[in-house]
Amino acid sequence: MKVCCIGAGYVGGPTCAVMALKCPDIVITLVDKSVERIAQWNSDKLPIYEPGLDEVVKKCRNVNLFFSTDIETAIKEADLIFISVNTPTKTCGNGKGRAADLKYVESAARMIAEIAQSNKIVVEKSTVPVRAAESIMHILRANQKPGIHYDILSNPEFLAEGTAINDLLNADRVLIGGEETPEGHQAVEKLSWIYEHWIPKQNILTTNTWSSELSKLAANAFLAQRISSINSLSAVCEATGADVSEVARAVGLDSRIGSKFLQASVGFGGSCFQKDILNLIYICENLNLPEVAAYWQQVIDMNEYQKRRFSQKIIESLFNTVSDKRIAILGFAFKKNTGDTRETAAITVCQTLLEEGAALDIYDPKVEPEQIIDDLTHPSVTESPEKVKKAVQIHSDPYSAVRATHALVICTEWDEFVDLDFKRIYQSMMKPAYIFDGRKILDHERLQQIGFHVQTIGKKYQRTGLLRSWGIVPQL
Ligand code: UDX
Ligand code: UDX
Ligand code: ADP
Repeated sequence: MKVCCIGAGYVGGPTCAVMALKCPDIVITLVDKSVERIAQWNSDKLPIYEPGLDEVVKKCRNVNLFFSTDIETAIKEADLIFISVNTPTKTCGNGKGRAADLKYVESAARMIAEIAQSNKIVVEKSTVPVRAAESIMHILRANQKPGIHYDILSNPEFLAEGTAINDLLNADRVLIGGEETPEGHQAVEKLSWIYEHWIPKQNILTTNTWSSELSKLAANAFLAQRISSINSLSAVCEATGADVSEVARAVGLDSRIGSKFLQASVGFGGSCFQKDILNLIYICENLNLPEVAAYWQQVIDMNEYQKRRFSQKIIESLFNTVSDKRIAILGFAFKKNTGDTRETAAITVCQTLLEEGAALDIYDPKVEPEQIIDDLTHPSVTESPEKVKKAVQIHSDPYSAVRATHALVICTEWDEFVDLDFKRIYQSMMKPAYIFDGRKILDHERLQQIGFHVQTIGKKYQRTGLLRSWGIVPQL
């Protein structure tokens, strides 16, 4: 069998790499319109950072996994085509700011219709709203050449960045949605056969196309909702003296609730959660279900509130002014083990501090410096990109980033931050030295003993400076 995948990004890349690893009898060609991206996939420095991906790609590349810009040949030769192009939120026109922009999906479908000379199974792999498969089908069937048959399947991807290879190798489930016709069932069987190379058959669920598409949006909406729920309680904790980690543990031990995805944070980011919920909201509004739309809108509103609340806390703690103060930002990616910054909470934190006149020293182990500057100078973030460029310095080492700063802010939960030498950091910072732990990863008691003023999410700390001056907390 020959497989082609259109779109060599965060979804297409790891998915095809694992498929190639597990299916030596299948030839997979990953195509992209970006010449630069394909060149990177064919080089030693892959275009995305994902633990374990390098090894898998090295093993399969030019064996049964090929990266190419020759989209036409790949489509012509393939029996099965995955569409895994990007589906960003629309920035203009109808549904602006909410609906998914399907222009890349549509253009991929049109390309297939134009080029195909034999029957194809077309698999929608991008996260796209309910009924996207139907749109792909309309395009393909309206441009159908005689004797060519198309089957359209929905096969949403559930991998999370940073753990993509493991998520693909040990998927909780694989979901395949198809048409309820004999041809539809056959197409589902063919795609299922690929996954059966490594996924137990009982974990491969088949549904109708719409259920499959909606399940993807629903899964992401549920996950994001858990984070917004615990984040909402983090505000209650800070106001009352409860500790959100203790609350999360107590709640998560209920087997009906479960302990995962209850980590309070500065706010969720990533390319999926917000986009998918906005999409769900848009669909509900169009289906005249305003109450349902309003329900899910709260998940996003709570996330925005959390990001704003954390940023405000930094400013308030620093005597209500950060103007001309240097602040170190440790971590810029939307989560650890990825270099991806899409929708990262760090952007909101940095934007708020920059607007208040702070100078920022930013360090992230995997995000490219140009990406940070691009994100912070984007028109949606600032009207004065030149000013931002002057106020932001990117560092390649955390110790250089914190030197002579008034405060250190943790925006991403990178493991290496836990093991930093905080005594050394304390000595090199301005006093009083503040730490704002937006990920709850540091040992706050110890930091206070060193002399830091510590603020975090979901727990109120005493003002150690005052306690120390009363002789209650010893100076180290
Ligand atoms: C609940 C909590 O489960 C329990 O831990 C707490 O101590 C008291 O409140 P209870 O109200 O007795 O217990 O019953 P529960 O099984 O939680 O059901 C509550 C309601 O939710 C019922 O009306 C039930 O029919 C409904 N429900 C429950 C659903 O509609 N769907 C479900 O999936 C589960
Ligand atoms: C998500 C889904 O998990 C995945 O199934 C889907 O295919 C794509 O979207 P991803 O966005 O890559 O994956 O990462 P995820 O681990 O879900 O984290 C999303 C955001 O939530 C991150 O910013 C993360 O830091 C945050 N998060 C996660 C929390 O703040 N608390 C948690 O308990 C878990
Ligand atoms: P995702 O996170 O959904 O994988 P990415 O932006 O990482 O999104 O990847 C999507 C990829 O799809 C990009 O590399 C983009 O160049 C590619 N792409 C978009 N439209 C087309 C198209 N019509 N033909 C080929 N590649 C495309």
